[in-house]
Amino acid sequence: MRRKRPAAPLCPAPPPPAMRLLLLFVAVPLLILLSPLSRRPPHQPPPVVVPCGAAPSDATAGRWVPTPRPVPAPLYGASCPFHRGSYNCLRNGRPPLAPLSWAPARCGGAVVVPRIDAAAFLAAARGRRVGLVGDSLNENLAVALLCALHSADPAARRWKRRGAWRGGYFPRHDVTVAFHRAVLLAKHTWVPVENDSEQEHRQDGRKGIYRVDVDVPADEWINATTFYDVLIFNTGHWWGTYKFPKETPLVFYRGGKPMDPPMSIPEGLKLVVRSMAAYVDREAPSNTLKLWRTQSPRHFHGGEWDRNGSCVTDRLLGEDELEAWFDPRLGGVNRDARTVNLAVEEALAGSGFRVVNLTYVSEFRADAHPAAWLGGKQGAVAVYGQDCMHWCVPGVPDTWVDLLAPHIILHFRKHRGNG
Ligand SMILES: *[C@@H]1O[C@H](CO)[C@@H](O)[C@H](O)[C@H]1NC(C)=O
Ligand SMILES: *[C@@H]1O[C@H](CO)[C@@H](O)[C@H](O)[C@H]1NC(C)=O
Ligand SMILES: *[C@@H]1O[C@H](CO)[C@@H](O)[C@H](O)[C@H]1NC(C)=O
Ligand SMILES: *[C@@H]1O[C@H](CO)[C@@H](O)[C@H](O)[C@H]1NC(C)=O
Repeated sequence: MRRKRPAAPLCPAPPPPAMRLLLLFVAVPLLILLSPLSRRPPHQPPPVVVPCGAAPSDATAGRWVPTPRPVPAPLYGASCPFHRGSYNCLRNGRPPLAPLSWAPARCGGAVVVPRIDAAAFLAAARGRRVGLVGDSLNENLAVALLCALHSADPAARRWKRRGAWRGGYFPRHDVTVAFHRAVLLAKHTWVPVENDSEQEHRQDGRKGIYRVDVDVPADEWINATTFYDVLIFNTGHWWGTYKFPKETPLVFYRGGKPMDPPMSIPEGLKLVVRSMAAYVDREAPSNTLKLWRTQSPRHFHGGEWDRNGSCVTDRLLGEDELEAWFDPRLGGVNRDARTVNLAVEEALAGSGFRVVNLTYVSEFRADAHPAAWLGGKQGAVAVYGQDCMHWCVPGVPDTWVDLLAPHIILHFRKHRGNG
C-alpha cells in the first residue's frame, strides 16, 4: 500500500511564529499516531487480514448459524442450466432447506463465510480453466460452482470436451469450468472371466474382474493436467466391496501385470492416490493450483442405503453426535468418508496437493441430502433407497464453493498474466 505524500509547500518563506506553535501542536500528535507505522521495517508488508472463509482453519472449526438478515437473494435456483436432475431438490419437490451459513470459529462465531462473488471470480479467472476430477461428489461441487458463476454470466453455455462429463464456458471472461468423471481416478477396465488369461482370477462364481492399472490415469482426465490452471480432485465412495463385490472384484495391476501378492481395496486406494498425485505433480506446469477436497459423509439413519436408511429430517447433527455417526472405530453405517479421508491424506503427504477439508462442515448437515426426492421415475426410492450421500443444490455444496473460491481467486491474482 502506498501512502500519498503531502504536497510540498509552494511558499518557501518560514511560517510566522504563531503558526510555528500551531504546527507543533498538529505535528506532534500526528507523529505519535504514525509512529507504529514508521517503526515497521521497510520491507515488511502491512499485516494482511485474512477474510472470513479464506483461512484453511475456517473449514475445520465452526458451526452452522441462521444466515444473518437480510438474507441475500440466492445466486440461482431450480432453473440453472447446469443442474443434474437428482441434485435439483427444489425441482424434485423437497421442502427447501433452511437458510444457514457456516460461521468459522476464527471469525468469532457470528460472522459467516460470504457467498462467492461470482463476477469477481470470473474477472480474476479471465482466460483460465478450472477442472474437477473424481466421483459424483465432485460433480455435486461442480454443479454448485457452475450455477453460481452462471449468475454473473447468463450467456454461459455447456462445455463438454476433452473427456469432460459436465462443464460450462463463460464467454464474458473466457473462463472454462468442467468436471471429469473418473470414480477411481486410475484407469479401470472390465475383463469378463472368459477373456482373462490369469488362472488365479478364475474363482468360483466370478463373472470377471475390474482391472485397475494403479499407474495409469483414466482416459477421461489423462490430458487434463496441461489444460487446466486449477485442478480439484477427489475420490472415495467407490472404494468398497459394495460397488465391487466378490463376483466382480477390483484387481490391481502395476506395470501391466497383476500385483503379487494381490492388493486389498484400502491398500489399492492409497497406491492409486499416491501414483495419481505423482502423475499430476510431474505433468502439470508448476503454477497449476492443485487442490484435493476431502470426501463428504453420508447420513443414513436407521439402516444402510438398501436397508431403508433414511435422511428425511430437518435436524442438523450436534457436535457431540459426530463421533458416534462417523468415527470409523465405532463401525457405523456412515463411517466410510472418514475412513477414505485417512487413506487419502496419508497418500498425499509430500505431494504438491493442498488438502481442503470439506468433511467437517458437511458432517453436521443430515438435513441437506436429496433423501426421498430423487426426481426421475416414480418408485425410484423403493429400488435405490434414499439418497443420503449426494447433496441438494443449492445447499451445502455452495458452502464448499465459498470455502474454495478465495484460494482460487488468490491464486489467479498471484499468477496474473503468466498463464
Ligand atoms: C477435517 O477437520 C476435522 C475438524 O477439525 C478434523 O477432525 C478432521 O481430521 C479433518 N479431516 C481431514 C481429512 O483433514
Ligand atoms: C473378449 O474376447 C472376445 C473373443 O476374443 C472378444 O470378441 C471380446 O471383444 C473380448 N472382450 C473384452 C471385454 O475384451
Ligand atoms: C492425450 O494426448 C496424447 C498426446 O496428444 C494423445 O496421443 C492421446 O490420444 C490423448 N489421450 C486421450 C485419452 O485423449
Ligand atoms: C423397508 O421398508 C418396507 C416398507 O416398510 C418393508 O416392507 C421392508 O421389509 C423394509 N426393508 C428392510 C430391508 O428392512
